[in-house]
Order: sequence, then structure tokens, then C-alpha cells
Amino acid sequence: MLEFEKKVAFITGAAHGQGRAVALSLALQGADIVAFDVAKKLDYPAYEFGTGEELLSLKEEIESLGRKAVIAVGDVRDIASVAAAVDKAILEFGKIDILFNNAGICAYAEIDKMTDEEWNSMIDINLKGPFNVARLIVPHMKKAKSGVIINNSSVMGLRGGNRLSHYTASKWGLTGLTKAWAIELAPYNIRVVSIHPTGVNTPMNDGLAALEGATPLEIAERSAGNLLPVPWVESQDVAHLVNYLASDKARYVTGSQFVLDAGLLSV
Ligand SMILES: NC(=O)c1ccc[n+]([C@@H]2O[C@H](COP(=O)([O-])OP(=O)(O)OC[C@H]3O[C@@H](n4cnc5c(N)ncnc54)[C@H](O)[C@@H]3O)[C@@H](O)[C@H]2O)c1
Repeated sequence: MLEFEKKVAFITGAAHGQGRAVALSLALQGADIVAFDVAKKLDYPAYEFGTGEELLSLKEEIESLGRKAVIAVGDVRDIASVAAAVDKAILEFGKIDILFNNAGICAYAEIDKMTDEEWNSMIDINLKGPFNVARLIVPHMKKAKSGVIINNSSVMGLRGGNRLSHYTASKWGLTGLTKAWAIELAPYNIRVVSIHPTGVNTPMNDGLAALEGATPLEIAERSAGNLLPVPWVESQDVAHLVNYLASDKARYVTGSQFVLDAGLLSV
């Protein structure tokens, strides 16, 4: 039997990048997938977001693996669109076993040049977004007396980042939510963990490079300082970690922070 046979995973920011890789890798191990994404450009940051075409091709790929896929378009800031996606998931599958709270944005700004819009967007998407999604999925997990929530924080959820104060604040906030939810939800057999990747080779990294007039490699090197001789990790590396954390192999793992940092935080 495959690891995630009969399991349902709800993944935010699934159209491309880490969310897509995790969706495919869970589906490969038997999970049915709810793929949630805003699937359009937002005003901030001015880089490429996921698209409707990417969501459709993800659905096709999941179905070609013999699994079911539900596509839901919405913004994690918009509780109505999250509620509609959760309702759609419950109607189709009757439950949600795994939540990968992954949708997020990143951009650089100096403290004295940061606008209200930049600060608010960062906190609303990266911190309130995961809260919005979790608060609507938790009742279903509570009812089932089981579930796992994996929050995609960052190494910046465990250290500081230069010109990244709003991003850093949002990701430390998500680390805090992980700890608090783990305490609150343990009696319901719901596990909550956070992951903390170093730079990942995704459209986000490419987008930041374009905004900064730098190469993707320079962006990765700027915020990283990996010990291992790699500029970044790949989305597939993140998928391997999420697969472990979502599986029964991690059945007694909750409240913990998992770094995938090529050694960065050791220094
Ligand atoms: N790329 C990195 O270097 C890196 C490192 C550590 C942590 N992270 C975190 O990992 C997560 C995924 O990053 P990625 O590199 O795959 O990014 P990405 O920009 O490549 O993909 C993010 C996806 O989320 C979607 N999304 C963004 N805002 C949304 C919103 N408001 N509502 C719904 N969907 C939304 C986008 O459309 C896109 O499909 C983010 O939370 C990010 O902060 C990224």
C-alpha cells in the first residue's frame, strides 16, 4: 500500500514552486489533492504568480498518476474563497488529512522606505493567510480526530534577513503559530510542524532576481550562506521533507521546526 493511499492533502500555493512539487510527490504516494492558488498576478510583489494553466496542468499530472485533484482558485487573505475551497474539498472527499500551508510572497525593502501596503501584504498573506486556511480546516480534522498541518516558514523564521524585516516578522510569526497550534491541537491527535528551507530554486527566487536586477544565483547567495556547496535546494528536497512529516513515520512529531538549510543555520 502506498504511504498516502486514501489520504487527502490540501495545498496552498500549489500552481508552481514548492507547492506543486509537494502536490505531485504526495499524489505519487497515493494522496488525492486539493490544489489552492490565487492563480493571477497580484499588485505586490511585481513578479510572476501561479496561473490557471499551471493549475490545470497540475490536475492533469495528478490524474495521470491515478489520483483525484480538485482545483480551487482563491486568495489566502480572502476567507470566503478559502471557505469555498474547503467546502469543495469536503464535498468531494469528505475529509482533509494533510494541510500544507505554503502560499507566500517575498520582497526586499528597507525599514524606512517600506510602505504600509508592503508591510500589510506581507503579513496578511504570509501570516494571516495560513491562519485563515487552518481555522477552516481544523474543525474537520478535529471531527476526524486526526490530521497534520505543515507550515512553510523559512530560515527567516529562525533568524534575521537583511532588508527582509516584514518577511522575517511574518515567518517568525508562522513559527509561533506552529508552536501554539501544536499545544492546542495535540489533544485532537492533530500534529503541527514548520519547515524552514534556505533559498529554494523556484519562480519566487527568479522573481526576486528580476526585481532586484540580479541573477537568481546572486539572490540565493545573498540571503543564504549555505555550508554545503550549493546555492539553493530544489523543490523536490522540500517535497521529501514534507512527505516524511505528513506520514505515519512522523506520528509522534509535533510542535517542531525542521530546517532544510544546507547547513546555513549552524553558523
Ligand atoms: N523560494 C525560496 O527561496 C523560499 C525559501 C524558504 C521559504 N520559502 C517559502 O515557501 C513558500 C513557497 O514559496 P515558493 O518558492 O514556492 O514561491 P513561488 O512564488 O514560486 O510560488 C508561490 C505560489 O503561491 C501562490 N500564492 C502567492 N500568494 C498567494 C495568495 N495570497 N493566495 C493564494 N496563493 C498565493 C502563487 O501564485 C504561487 O503559485 C512561501 O511561503 C515562501 O515564503 C521560499
